[in-house]
Amino acid sequence: MECSLKLHACFFYSVRQLSSLPIPHQRRRTIHGFVLPQFSIAIRHQPRPQHHRSHFRTTKMPYAPKIGDHVDTLDTPSMIVDLDLMETNIATLMSRLLPTGLYIRPHLKTTKSATLAQRLVAAGAKGGCVAKLSEAEVMCAKGISDLLITCEIIGAVKVARLIELWRSYPSIRIVVDSEEGAKGINDAIAASGASQDDKIITLLDLDVGLHRTGIQPGPPALALAKAIAELPHLELVGVQGYEGHLQHVHGFEERKKACLESMAILTSTADALRQAGHVISVVTTGGTGTAEFCASVPGVTEVQPGSFLFMDTDYRNAIGSTYSNSLTILSTVLSVQGPRIVTIDAGLKSLTTDSGLAECKEKGYKYGVLGDEHGSLEWEEGGKELKVGDRVEMVPSHIDPTINLHDVYYAHRKGVVEEIWSVDARGKVQ
Ligand SMILES: Cc1ncc(COP(=O)(O)O)c(C=O)c1O
Repeated sequence: MECSLKLHACFFYSVRQLSSLPIPHQRRRTIHGFVLPQFSIAIRHQPRPQHHRSHFRTTKMPYAPKIGDHVDTLDTPSMIVDLDLMETNIATLMSRLLPTGLYIRPHLKTTKSATLAQRLVAAGAKGGCVAKLSEAEVMCAKGISDLLITCEIIGAVKVARLIELWRSYPSIRIVVDSEEGAKGINDAIAASGASQDDKIITLLDLDVGLHRTGIQPGPPALALAKAIAELPHLELVGVQGYEGHLQHVHGFEERKKACLESMAILTSTADALRQAGHVISVVTTGGTGTAEFCASVPGVTEVQPGSFLFMDTDYRNAIGSTYSNSLTILSTVLSVQGPRIVTIDAGLKSLTTDSGLAECKEKGYKYGVLGDEHGSLEWEEGGKELKVGDRVEMVPSHIDPTINLHDVYYAHRKGVVEEIWSVDARGKVQ
């Protein structure tokens, strides 16, 4: 009610202001004695009096963490990154993979941060991967355009968005696993008035055992490559074969053996495509759990690890501690619910549960989910008691979807915030 009165008052004011203005070359229109505006833009140009402006003034946010603050002063839940650990993770990956001569094209679906993408390029990465077109839009706008979009782009709306982006950033690369998908993109490029030479860089997406996307190896892959090659606006340059089902296989030898089998499918398909006359210069694959195995295989040209920057408990349990858990969710104890159980302010909206439950960084506490906003921490008799107001750090169980729940990272060194990064592509799932 109050709101509609304000709007009413606002409308009357605008109309009265306008009526006092000379309107040259325009006939004044009136209804019930009020002069009506000819163009809505005329209203926008009217200066508002001070008391009206105050309704729209943005008030200064009372909470604005800044560089130099201690993490102890951050509100919770907050996503915090230990810079020393993250930088060591990057250095470890680069020192292991750069000497192989392969391109490292990190998957940016993990961090969704342009700042971190730039940092990875500075450390030796060749551009990056994104899962979704909407992530690519964000990264391109922020200066990262050497990108491979690793999910298929299907449907008129998305294809139109792709072409719009590709016109400005022709370096972006796509994957296709069907003739329909390839033809949809080709035809839309043709219809957009592109010249005969305009071709989008395309990789054939191969199923190397994940059974998520990807054409089957053998005759289906050869037939699809032939179909792509016949399309004037797609340039087939390589093959993607992501073995996502192997990333979390426990045991180094088991993971390596299964990975090498998948790589055999990938590289033999690349060879078969070459024999059929296709120029296959990109063979891209691998994640944090397998990149080193992939890189040891002749014929692989590029790896796509993403989670290694921050890790999570699921990855640590599978592959060990080559990379450290450098990201935690800082939380506060809200309530004591029994002799050895408290409630913290991090539930489903702060920590995901699809890959098991998060862990408290400090040993001896068991986390439980108490709903969207709450979680529990329980401890054995004799354990250190947690009290209302205490703060704890929670280690996520699955890093990518956990990051997608937060707006910003607070990156600290020994507790002092050094950088604040936005999760630029947060929520970009299209
Ligand atoms: C196609 C593709 N490549 C690479 C990765 C990176 O894997 P990770 O985050 O496990 O390193 C993913 C992750 O889901 C992926 O989907």
